[in-house]
Amino acid sequence: MYLIANLKAHAVDIESYVRKLESLKRCKVKIILAPPYPYLNEVCRSGFLTSSQDVSFCAEGAFTGEIPASLLKSLGVRYCLLGHSERRTLFHEDTKILKNKYDKCVQYGLQPILCVGETKEEHNSDHYLEKIRTQVLEIFPSSTVAPLIAYEPIWSIGSGQIPEPSTIRQVVSVIKEALPGSTVLYGGSVNPSNAAGLMTLCDGLLVGSASKDPETLTQIIQQLEKL
Ligand code: PGA
Repeated sequence: MYLIANLKAHAVDIESYVRKLESLKRCKVKIILAPPYPYLNEVCRSGFLTSSQDVSFCAEGAFTGEIPASLLKSLGVRYCLLGHSERRTLFHEDTKILKNKYDKCVQYGLQPILCVGETKEEHNSDHYLEKIRTQVLEIFPSSTVAPLIAYEPIWSIGSGQIPEPSTIRQVVSVIKEALPGSTVLYGGSVNPSNAAGLMTLCDGLLVGSASKDPETLTQIIQQLEKL
């Protein structure tokens, strides 16, 4: 059971944030914190598993403003979110860029967590399962060992709307069929009241806005601990 906290570009008092989560380190849920870059060092030192929210497709060198995988790895970062819909949409990350980022993750030992998902229009069409299958297979080679994938319908992110349980089940099985052995998470409007139900449909949750507040995040994890 995974719980990934995606803090996006929100400012928090990171020292007090990790202190408030301290007691959860021993719980059965595997918690991974994905803070903005300036907080990564503090989170790595806290002993929590850490993910970056992105990575550069460049190696180390003269690439002003870029954060290469090797530097993240040397801080102690273990995971990297790849292809979050905000990156795909706002920062025009296409398959070629994501494939390069994937290669950098693999080269430097960061475990990529690939985010996939459809728009509302695509959801209302018959083709979204095929889109998700394509999004998975164009990045992860079929030989990938234990891939981590987050199904995040774009229309669900930050909207309070979540898909029908049958839809999540169907997407999870499409992904697992495409890549046997994969761990599939759900993300999009997860909160303390829906977390336990959603968790029964998949292998973990990717939590955005509800992870900003450590008390709310704690409530979510407490719900999962009861399962
Ligand atoms: P949300 O975001 O939980 O705020 O909907 C999820 C995400 O973008 O990863």
